[in-house]
Amino acid sequence: MPAPELRLVLAVSLDGRLAPAQGGAAQLGGSGDRRVLEEALAWADACLIGARTIRLHGCTCLIRDQDLLDHRSTQQRSAQPHALVVSRTGVFEPALRFFQQPLERWLLTPSAAAELPAGFQQRRAIDSWPQLLRRLADEGLGRLVVLGGAELAGHLLEQQLVDELQLTLVPQVLGGRHSWLPPGCALQPNTWRLLEQRGVGGDELLLRYRRTTA
Ligand SMILES: NC(=O)c1ccc[n+]([C@@H]2O[C@H](COP(=O)([O-])OP(=O)(O)OC[C@H]3O[C@@H](n4cnc5c(N)ncnc54)[C@H](OP(=O)(O)O)[C@@H]3O)[C@@H](O)[C@H]2O)c1
Repeated sequence: MPAPELRLVLAVSLDGRLAPAQGGAAQLGGSGDRRVLEEALAWADACLIGARTIRLHGCTCLIRDQDLLDHRSTQQRSAQPHALVVSRTGVFEPALRFFQQPLERWLLTPSAAAELPAGFQQRRAIDSWPQLLRRLADEGLGRLVVLGGAELAGHLLEQQLVDELQLTLVPQVLGGRHSWLPPGCALQPNTWRLLEQRGVGGDELLLRYRRTTA
């Protein structure tokens, strides 16, 4: 079975912020970022999304570009990658637009004991992240895009489970405390190899890096 592959995809300000100082639902990227985000979604079998990001935004990003939808269709893949929401509480407002979006929704929680909240089709238990990711790969969900937020990204980076970083640098300096990794995030020494750098329009810069250390 293929090994799981995790790509963290974020739009970040020039000072490394994920959201404005006041917090809330951040919309940092422009149309160039939207395209590279959709390309990452088109690559993915599923997306890992932190519960707070879903609660704040009310929905997740869908592939809209027809060429990407056509490509997935010719590969006989679902139009959209599955949305795997990561949560300890499993508490969500059922009226969120997310629950009307045309995709498969799974809940990943530390405990398999609680009831599956309405709107989710399946649940998987997070006993150990490496084991869970291997099980997901066995189920055909080996290519995973991590859509943030910072808490989830930090947790996966701490466990050295992120293989690739896809960052769109957006031309804003935001200040505040919402860095793209949470305060106190404790990482092992790590280095990354540059795979790609290009402007994507609107003075935004795409950077893709691959982990070079275990
Ligand atoms: N610029 C970008 O590209 C981008 C992308 C995504 C998000 N954002 C921004 O990021 C902010 C949200 O990020 P955030 O760091 O506050 O929250 P987050 O990472 O989206 O979600 C945190 C929540 O996820 C669950 N969670 C996280 N790690 C977990 C783990 N290891 N095991 C189980 N559950 C876990 C918990 O949910 P429960 O509370 O249910 O237990 C936790 O409260 C928003 O401002 C959003 O707009 C920006």
